[in-house]
Amino acid sequence: MQKVQEITGGLVPARSAPGDADTQDLLTGVRLEKCKLTPPEADCLHEELKSTPNILGYTIPELLGFSEVLVATAKGENGSEAFAGACLCKDLRWNWTEISVVYVLPAFRGRGISTQLFTTAFAGARERKRHIFTLSRSPQVIHLMERLGMETSRSMWKAPLAVHLEMNWHMMSAYRWREAGRKMKMRKDDGYEFLGGVKRYEKTGNM
Ligand SMILES: CC(C)(COP(=O)(O)OP(=O)(O)OC[C@H]1O[C@@H](n2cnc3c(N)ncnc32)[C@H](O)[C@@H]1OP(=O)(O)O)[C@@H](O)C(=O)NCCC(=O)NCCS
Repeated sequence: MQKVQEITGGLVPARSAPGDADTQDLLTGVRLEKCKLTPPEADCLHEELKSTPNILGYTIPELLGFSEVLVATAKGENGSEAFAGACLCKDLRWNWTEISVVYVLPAFRGRGISTQLFTTAFAGARERKRHIFTLSRSPQVIHLMERLGMETSRSMWKAPLAVHLEMNWHMMSAYRWREAGRKMKMRKDDGYEFLGGVKRYEKTGNM
């Protein structure tokens, strides 16, 4: 909570009232909405992403440009609803979808919110008959990748070509190069390794 307040000057207020048509009530007091990020949410996420060694980060315009987005809203310590986290997906070539960002604000962690975000994003991509890729070094997300039957590997050679092409494009950014240097220092000797997870869509016997 303290950290969120330091960054944003307070929690980012919830975007809509509970029970709206395209929202889902999942855990007690947690709602997921499929939508684009609002400017205050993008602002908050942009600052928050700077704090994790696990994600290189995105500029605010890039965050606002994501179209496959799930936003979690939850009750904070003071009982009012606020932006609690988000899962952002990118559609790549050849029917691949990358789950690119899973982020839960520190004040809302350990309540199963990332499980809801990740499993809902995963199921949404499967419904759209997409192959799914995720790269993560977070034990929680790796646990979810394995729980959902993704084939995991430490070798990026196992990642699909669509992901390699996207990664080259992704790194053509001065912002990301700066962040890559900073995050390399943050990651130094913390013992966590990146793992790629792949789940191919097959016409029969899915999920
Ligand atoms: C990683 C992060 C998204 C987890 O969010 P969270 O809402 O606190 O996670 P949850 O409470 O939903 O836990 C997720 C799952 O991990 C499990 N888990 C918790 N701690 C774990 C650990 N140390 N090792 C393995 N699994 C763990 C939980 O039991 C849960 O699985 P389940 O639903 O099968 O029980 C959050 O800490 C975060 O935003 N970190 C910074 C950004 C980041 O690292 N994102 C991932 C990069 S891809």
